[in-house]
Amino acid sequence: MEIITAVRGFKDILPGEAVKWHFVEQTARTIFSSFGFREIRLPLLEKTELFKRGIGEATDIVEKEMYTFLDKGDEYLTMRPEATAGVIRAYIEHSLFAADPVVKLFTMGPMFRRERPQKGRYRQFHQIDAEVLGSDDPQTDAELIFMLVHLLHTLGLMSLKLEINSLGCRDCRPAFRTAITEFLSGKEGELCGDCQRRLHTNPLRVFDCKVKECQQVLASAPRLLDFLCDACRDHFEEVQGTLTLYGTPFSVNSRMVRGLDYYTRTTFELTTESLGAQNAVVGGGRFDGLVKDLGGPEIAGIGFAIGMERLVSMLALADDGLDQRPLLYIAALGDGAKKKSGLICNRLRIKGIYAEIDYSGKSLKSQMKRADKLGCRYTLIVGDREMDEQIAELRDMRSSSQIKISFDKIEDYVINIAKEN
Ligand code: HAM
Repeated sequence: MEIITAVRGFKDILPGEAVKWHFVEQTARTIFSSFGFREIRLPLLEKTELFKRGIGEATDIVEKEMYTFLDKGDEYLTMRPEATAGVIRAYIEHSLFAADPVVKLFTMGPMFRRERPQKGRYRQFHQIDAEVLGSDDPQTDAELIFMLVHLLHTLGLMSLKLEINSLGCRDCRPAFRTAITEFLSGKEGELCGDCQRRLHTNPLRVFDCKVKECQQVLASAPRLLDFLCDACRDHFEEVQGTLTLYGTPFSVNSRMVRGLDYYTRTTFELTTESLGAQNAVVGGGRFDGLVKDLGGPEIAGIGFAIGMERLVSMLALADDGLDQRPLLYIAALGDGAKKKSGLICNRLRIKGIYAEIDYSGKSLKSQMKRADKLGCRYTLIVGDREMDEQIAELRDMRSSSQIKISFDKIEDYVINIAKEN
């Protein structure tokens, strides 16, 4: 019969890889907690309106990438394409701002975007997302980036490039918008079809375009940084000054606009040369108007999201490299031995010892082969003779030395070995 495969762009994470995910998630949790972040778990499904208003109607994500459906003819729902809008929705809905002036939240999980799948780009992908709400201080921006870079270094990723930019605020951005619209008018014919449309809906998005011709047109375009108001310029300078103070290297990329409309002031990306076209591993930035736009009070925010698939693919760890190996393999030969061995094995397991057993009744040779393949440190052999004598053979798989232990001592003996290993 024909097999049923996974949906295109939806990827299985097999056990050998899942241990790497745990390692990354655990490292993130530990680091986040010392910076005061608390976990929030959110639904995967939200009202479509949240993303339209939050991310912006004229973004690629909202225009063409969302999985949206009409739920029983009632309302439009969307599989979340990112986490920030949902975090802010929950922050407002549960008045989390009332508990503390500065709230730091993180969340982890799947996001959905109907993009064209390719290496490093999936339709279901995962993010580790962190947001700080309630501070517009540039020190907060630098601190968040510092934490992020520390996390990546702890994971062994030293070669990521940090790029930062400032997108200005709602006061200074309109002047830039006008300047870029003026600059591009008359050059419409040189732009791709998408950008010709963007020119009228969201001219900043032209900077995001990967088409070479569009990039060439933009080579001599005005720079956003030249349009910043005094307050935004000071803010950006202090972000840079603090990053320097913290010893976090960065470069300013004045063409980085990011693909979501909620950004104001500081934006940043961490990129790598090892992933080909999908080179952004982390993206983030400040969103000082988003809480208000989603119906909450005027509260500033900044955050980032790490793309898990891209990050994990960069880890210098072999698949199964972090897999736990059984301490003990019990080779049981014969029916009586199987029962007794099962009891020993499961009693050890509930004491936290990773023990493995085979109920197949295969020969000693084939069971020893399996123990070896699993990388077990010790093997306990229980056959008919051992059952008669109530004594089992314990083999050290590294030294191949063997000792005899009576059944009633096995548990304590193995627990002691576990403590030493
Ligand atoms: P973003 O740049 O759209 O930002 O996504 C962040 C990261 O998610 C990207 O750098 C990339 O690693 C990963 N990513 C995005 N799309 C895909 C895909 N189709 N397949 C695999 N990985 C992908 C945001 O989502 C913002 N919410 C970040 C943020 C949080 N800004 C403020 N707070």
